[in-house]
Amino acid sequence: MLILGIETSCDETAAAVVRGVPGDRCVVLSSVVASQHDLHEEYAGVVPEIASRAHVEAILPVVRSAVREAGVGLGEIGAVAVGHRPGLVGSLLVGVSAAKGLAWSLGVPLVGVDHVHAHLYAGLLESEVAGGEHRASPSGTVDDVFPALGLVVSGGHTSLYVMRSPIEMKRVGATIDDALGEAFDKAATVLELGHPGGPNLDRLASSPGANDRAVKLPISRLSRDSLDMSFSGLKTALLYAVRGMPGRGTHGPQGYERRSEDLSDDERRNLAASFQKAAVDAVMLKLGRALDRFDALAGEPCRAVLTGGGVTANSLLRARLVAMGEERGVPVVLPPMALCVDNAAMIAGLGHELLRAGRVSDMTLAPVPTTAC
Ligand code: KG4
Ligand code: ZN
Repeated sequence: MLILGIETSCDETAAAVVRGVPGDRCVVLSSVVASQHDLHEEYAGVVPEIASRAHVEAILPVVRSAVREAGVGLGEIGAVAVGHRPGLVGSLLVGVSAAKGLAWSLGVPLVGVDHVHAHLYAGLLESEVAGGEHRASPSGTVDDVFPALGLVVSGGHTSLYVMRSPIEMKRVGATIDDALGEAFDKAATVLELGHPGGPNLDRLASSPGANDRAVKLPISRLSRDSLDMSFSGLKTALLYAVRGMPGRGTHGPQGYERRSEDLSDDERRNLAASFQKAAVDAVMLKLGRALDRFDALAGEPCRAVLTGGGVTANSLLRARLVAMGEERGVPVVLPPMALCVDNAAMIAGLGHELLRAGRVSDMTLAPVPTTAC
């Protein structure tokens, strides 16, 4: 069956077509993403009203491109899946309305999908189109990787899940303040690295000569047992490392000692590397704890670690996840780069699983700002 996926939760308008094979890997036939980054750049963050207007303009051309690039006709689509939570309500509303209209006019099922859970499905897709060929690893069927430990690290969410299947999961830990991607973006702002913050910081931190031990930054543990995370202290520590203590100098309304633009290239590179190391260390610490405790939480051993969300594109985090998988002998599923950030292929894929389980929506499907769990 062909599933059309639609994604408009934040500032990307996306549509994709996947071929769903029951019990087997879905194959991505097309994945189109129209980014609005340039519209929001001057505001240093996503402006909800601008985002929803841009979605209205982009949604139909993006859906048409996805269907055309898949080489299929709209009449062949067997279901429409849409990310209906979490996100900006005005943005979600555009995707949900388009999905309802398409599902109704085609006479096919409509499936509402949780965007955060869909990030965990991205690495289970097979694809020849989204940024090159991708064969899902480990091989075997989707069901073979469960129960799994799930890690989502995105711009809006940072959570750990015990997963029984792609659609049944329990959150066992989450950030209590900033999401990891948000912390990267704010750190990039402090270091004046420009937009997009996370990828720019990654690039600088990975450049030759960067010393990730140059500046000692805190790693939040919260408590001995906690699987929750916190990144706001790390962000503030970076701010002070860059600008000195507030109230001791003359720069800006807070009276900082230095300005960000006074940093030398070496200092900026070392600060970026030190921040990235501390942020990744903090995630790996909690992931390790969750793996240690998985048997007790799930009642059976962990068969794989599923990861997803924009920050799984981070070079250091990817390397550390692969190393942890080898060390612990547990398969780690990483999405291909093109499917780390927001896309509709993951929505269509998880939509296929929900459809198989009979979890179909109706025309009362509404946008919801929060994740289901
Ligand atoms: O999953 P995503 O596209 O959107 C949300 O659902 O939030 O994630 C976007 C986030 C942004 O904060 C972006 O800076 C971050 O992912 N990101 C990265 C990298 N690529 C994207 N953070 C660190 N290193 C990267 N290479
Ligand atoms: Zn996302």
